[in-house]
Amino acid sequence: PGHLISAADLTRDDAVLILDTAEEMARVADRPIKKLPTLRGRTVVNLFFEDSTRTRISFEAAAKRLSADVINFSAKGSSVSKGESLKDTALTLEAMGADAVVIRHGSSGAPYRLANSGWIDGAVINAGDGTHEHPTQALLDAFTMRRRLVGADEGIGRDLEGRRITIVGDILHSRVARSNVLLLHTLGAEVTLVAPPTLLPIGVEKWPCEVSYDLDRVLPKSDAVMMLRVQRERMNAAFFPTEREYSRRYGLDGERMARMPDNSIVMHPGPMNRGMEITAEVADSDRCTAVEQVANGVSTRMAVLYLLLGGAVFNTTTVPAVTH
Ligand code: CP
Repeated sequence: PGHLISAADLTRDDAVLILDTAEEMARVADRPIKKLPTLRGRTVVNLFFEDSTRTRISFEAAAKRLSADVINFSAKGSSVSKGESLKDTALTLEAMGADAVVIRHGSSGAPYRLANSGWIDGAVINAGDGTHEHPTQALLDAFTMRRRLVGADEGIGRDLEGRRITIVGDILHSRVARSNVLLLHTLGAEVTLVAPPTLLPIGVEKWPCEVSYDLDRVLPKSDAVMMLRVQRERMNAAFFPTEREYSRRYGLDGERMARMPDNSIVMHPGPMNRGMEITAEVADSDRCTAVEQVANGVSTRMAVLYLLLGGAVFNTTTVPAVTH
């Protein structure tokens, strides 16, 4: 089967096909009966070794709207606490007949291992692995940008050529940033990363994007500004500037947002640290698409499940860039 492990697996045409299919799925979601019979009799397993609110429930909603049976597995409360390995967990799921496994794992590379192990026959979808990638987040973000910056109808068949996207904050620990940079580059957008030097990964100069340390200079030239959560749980305290210093230099408040062009948008993948990278005023403003991104996530994940379980094959030969 095909898998979705990295945003780098997708060609421009693959990505546009997923976005176009997601647009069709969003139209179904607007109907009084939101369900399609397409995946009746198929089984989707949500295999979550790390906490999640949005990704887990939106994959569940997406699978159910396509009439698939859904099994939710959370490592908390499972036999993982007794030392059961990823292999034995996977073999157990395979015995239950999983057609697709949606996996979130704290280790970068775990979905790649699952897809290439032979332990399971189903499609593997990466729902976030360590600090490596979160490709369906990048797809739902691109879907949101295309809708807002190009238009729902006007966007069909089109990419994000020439759109200027700024990603701000804790790039070092962000699988969302990595997947977004890769996908946005494929879709023709111009990406700028803004972060303190201590929160940029080694080798970022080889990524297909610009890097800046000056948010105020970049904001007036941004069609979309994506604010990232500072991932304290993955961080050594010594690396972190004080909260006040971080907010002052890299946080988005109403005054800064006013420097952005008309019709530009503020994005956040969630969960948000209100008062840290984004003020409540910005988070609750009409410009902020955080809630819209969650709704778009269901349509986008419906599209990914529909295409992969319908036999689509994306290139999954990419060896993860980060392993630890
Ligand atoms: N954006 C995102 O991945 O959120 P969750 O961690 O809640 O799934």
